Amino acid sequence: MDTLFNARIRCNALEDKVVTAETAASWIKDGMSLGMSGFTRAGDAKTIPLALVEKAKTEKFQVDVYTGASLGPEVDQMMAEAGIIRKRAPYQGDPAIRKAINTGKVLYTDMHLSHNAELIRQGIIGPIDFAIIEATAITEDGMIIPTTSVGNSPILVQMAKEVIIELNPEQPNLEGIHDIYLPADQGERDPIPMLTASDRIGTKGIPVDIKKIKGIVHSTIKDAPSLIVEPDEETEQIAQHLLGFLRAEIKKGRLPKNLLPLQSGVGSVANAVLNGFLNSEFEELEIYSEVLQDAVFHLLDANKIKIASGTSITLSEECGTRVYGNIDNYKDRLVLRPQEISNHPEVIRRLGIIAINTALEADIYGNVNSTHVQGTHMMNGLGGSGDFTRNARIAIFVTKSYAKGGDISSIVPMVAHHDHTEHDVDVIATEQGIADLRGLAPKERVQAIIENCVHPDYKEALREYYNRAVEVTGNAHTPHNLEEALAWHVNYKKTKTMKK
Ligand code: COA
Repeated sequence: MDTLFNARIRCNALEDKVVTAETAASWIKDGMSLGMSGFTRAGDAKTIPLALVEKAKTEKFQVDVYTGASLGPEVDQMMAEAGIIRKRAPYQGDPAIRKAINTGKVLYTDMHLSHNAELIRQGIIGPIDFAIIEATAITEDGMIIPTTSVGNSPILVQMAKEVIIELNPEQPNLEGIHDIYLPADQGERDPIPMLTASDRIGTKGIPVDIKKIKGIVHSTIKDAPSLIVEPDEETEQIAQHLLGFLRAEIKKGRLPKNLLPLQSGVGSVANAVLNGFLNSEFEELEIYSEVLQDAVFHLLDANKIKIASGTSITLSEECGTRVYGNIDNYKDRLVLRPQEISNHPEVIRRLGIIAINTALEADIYGNVNSTHVQGTHMMNGLGGSGDFTRNARIAIFVTKSYAKGGDISSIVPMVAHHDHTEHDVDVIATEQGIADLRGLAPKERVQAIIENCVHPDYKEALREYYNRAVEVTGNAHTPHNLEEALAWHVNYKKTKTMKK
């Protein structure tokens, strides 16, 4: 047996709990609910899922899978392809499970990520039969030290009937980075004592009743790297528009020179936009976010960031090798928290977060669709974008003004699915420009969005749509021509372009 593995089980009472992945998989039965660690392909259990895929070759079963967010290929690809996931929540991002969701093979509940823990705590999600948690170590007093994400693991461990640990000495040892704080039940809860992005308010590991630990499995599989695409000219332009906006806010005395803590969403666009701070004058920045992607580490390397707080670290292969090879250089500037704290409305509002998330499409009033391609097909999920948007000091959405080589306009008359309403969206930025919507009436918002954010190929068509909408509604408060509000989507479905 691996000596590093044995050394990481520092709680003597647990030494005889080591089992094979096959044994652990044999405990999992048809109809069970599993609470699994992992958040955006980081810190997920990987070895037991592979054993479950193997078991599915000879046994018919299905389970419900609740996690922090999206998982790597062992669950969201291979378990989905094996047909053993009945229901999945609260977020995914893998083409295989996306296909299963969009062909009716897997049920999916797309949820605000700060809400999951409350629903698990109330027993609305669950009962959770097994929490399966990847760990880097188990401490002398029986605390679980997570790996590259915290996510929902603390509440899953607290509420599950039994716990299985995947102890993985091959994952980066981030002991000391985590800060685990679990609020009490609602009604008996104190204020969350977080006053700055760098505050530490909890324990360094996940407390667990060791009697609940049914088994410890040796895992050696590393996180799957993130697949983000490098910044390009247009994402660089979006970043420049955003930096210009923030500079103007500082000039007007509305923001301090080092801004307020920044949140940056998942995906290539948000990562590229954050990267834009690299060659700027901004310094002493703070990140209070959910996922820490490559750009955060580029900014840490450039000494632009004082503190980066999140719930997971999701890096490309190249960035991961560099960061985890020198993790001691970063440790005192990183904190990983449970997602109900990283995304908590109370904390986000108190700290005055500047939230930057990505839209698939936005409409002329500023409603945003982040999740449903053409209004019907799930992309990933809304993740934490709503948690931050609804509570941020400034809620910003970024997107290129077009998709699919120009055949889709990202600004449409009416979004085909509403994730973030006009009441929550403060600013929209595309490579064309930026619209500051704060305090504007619907008709003012239309002007700001069409004139600043829309691609030239679609500008005139949107102006015409709006003028007709004014006419047919008698200049109503929010003019829409309901007969043609979704015609752009219908056209795309029929002709593969929104262009007339
Ligand atoms: N209609 C159809 N497809 C569209 C589209 C639109 N209006 N806009 C973008 N797309 C497609 C792109 O073509 C691309 O497709 P491909 O993978 O086939 O190339 C895909 O969506 C991703 O778009 P991309 O421009 O590469 O953006 P991204 O990687 O930054 O991802 C989101 C954008 C919206 C999918 C992603 O940010 C997301 O899932 N957001 C929701 C969750 C969230 O915001 N979490 C943050 C919380 S901290």
